[in-house]
Amino acid sequence: MTAAVYSSRPLPLFDKYGGIKTLRHVIMEFYDRVLDSDVIGHFFEDTDMVRLIDHQVKFFTMVLGGPSDFSDERLARAHAFLRLNHDQFDEAVTLLIITLEEANFAPEDRDSVITAIEARRGIIVT
Ligand code: HEM
Repeated sequence: MTAAVYSSRPLPLFDKYGGIKTLRHVIMEFYDRVLDSDVIGHFFEDTDMVRLIDHQVKFFTMVLGGPSDFSDERLARAHAFLRLNHDQFDEAVTLLIITLEEANFAPEDRDSVITAIEARRGIIVT
């Protein structure tokens, strides 16, 4: 009985897509695109990218249902001084969609990631 309940539970996307190793690779691909972007690339000129990628992997591990906790307060704090607008946020979302497509995320999984990101638009755009 218990086993049947466990086996019917959907696998977190974190495990489905290969865990931390794949995720780190996906995040690095995402930031390659971000740094190349005329709309948002300049924001990262003075950023320690190794540290940022580490933090972003933690954030996305949580979004994908993996073993991580990343508070909305921390996300708000990291972006408050940047005064981001909706166009800049949209650019990041577009680049993330392209990256997830290239990483062969199924459309419904990609959509659930984007839904989780969109839910935080109001604390990133200020
Ligand atoms: C698409 C939605 C976004 C998500 C999910 C996101 C997520 C994150 C995360 C998790 C961090 C690390 C926070 C920490 O160190 O504690 C971070 C930092 C940062 N984000 Fe975003 N971000 C988004 C959009 C943007 C956009 C649109 C920009 C700029 C145009 C931006 C610029 C930055 C910068 C510059 C940092 C580094 C701040 C520092 O120096 O510590 N982010 N972001």
